[in-house]
Amino acid sequence: MSNFFNSYLGSRGGFGGSRGGFGGDRGGRGGAGRGGFGGRGGARGGRGGLGAKGGSKVLVEPHRHEGVFIARGKEDLLVTRNMVPGESVYNEKRISVDQPDGTKVEYRVWNPFRSKLASGILGGVENIHIAPGKKVLYLGAASGTTVSHVSDVVGPTGLVYAVEFSHRSGRDLINVAKKRTNVIPIIEDARHPQRYRMLVGMVDVIFADVAQPDQARIIALNAHHFLKIGGHIVISIKANCIDSTVDAATVFAREVKKLQEERIKPQEQITLEPYERDHALVVGVYRPVKKSK
Ligand SMILES: C[S@@+](CC[C@H](N)C(=O)[O-])C[C@H]1O[C@@H](n2cnc3c(N)ncnc32)[C@H](O)[C@@H]1O
Repeated sequence: MSNFFNSYLGSRGGFGGSRGGFGGDRGGRGGAGRGGFGGRGGARGGRGGLGAKGGSKVLVEPHRHEGVFIARGKEDLLVTRNMVPGESVYNEKRISVDQPDGTKVEYRVWNPFRSKLASGILGGVENIHIAPGKKVLYLGAASGTTVSHVSDVVGPTGLVYAVEFSHRSGRDLINVAKKRTNVIPIIEDARHPQRYRMLVGMVDVIFADVAQPDQARIIALNAHHFLKIGGHIVISIKANCIDSTVDAATVFAREVKKLQEERIKPQEQITLEPYERDHALVVGVYRPVKKSK
């Protein structure tokens, strides 16, 4: 099996995801190796134990997305620096790395089969706009799997407002937030941002993974309430949740048009293959400021 990152690292075009328009000039590259993940069930550590080898042998390098890292080994892995050392969130593996000063830094493996943001990163998305210190409004937080990695990425100076309307998932999300001081769980319907307006400040980026037919409207409503002018949106679009009667490319194009009508200018679009079928990740900027001549 080919090494997970072989065709990814050093080739900014990434692999797998095919790239849509908006002036991008980089093509995708086929043949993603699945590396250490081996499908949906992969990268679940036994009993939350460290699992993956750590110590001084593992080399962890910064990814070009600030706050994201790569653990180099027999199989290279996408990882984030654990905000809560010693704790796994969804039984993912942890890797502890010895520092020259004798201290240890712990990382958590980020599985692209369980997170559309991770699959987008491995698919070569140019900019996720989520970085240390950023404030993120996360719509469709579920149990907090990806939220926990976003919490690691933004770190102690950033914030993640995590909105989820299912009370069942919300319970897990609240437990994640109890240990992560930068996560604010909001158990509400994202269709009604006025219900949580007192809890949420202005944000740098909205990440949306609600998988709903009216998701463009949901995102626009939240952007009008909370997104800074010039802020960004990053959206996962699952084609058959929106319209299963037309092909995925048509659904993506229609969704992008709806966003444009809400003054969200699309900047990037990639598909999430080989991790997810008929999914796209779209990145856009909100009410882009006109350049002065
Ligand atoms: C695809 S899952 C999200 C997975 C999650 N982003 C992750 O990577 O771990 C979609 C989630 O959005 C939630 N959702 C759907 N519509 C919503 C709404 N209007 N308001 C809040 N949450 C919503 C669902 O309950 C579900 O948990």
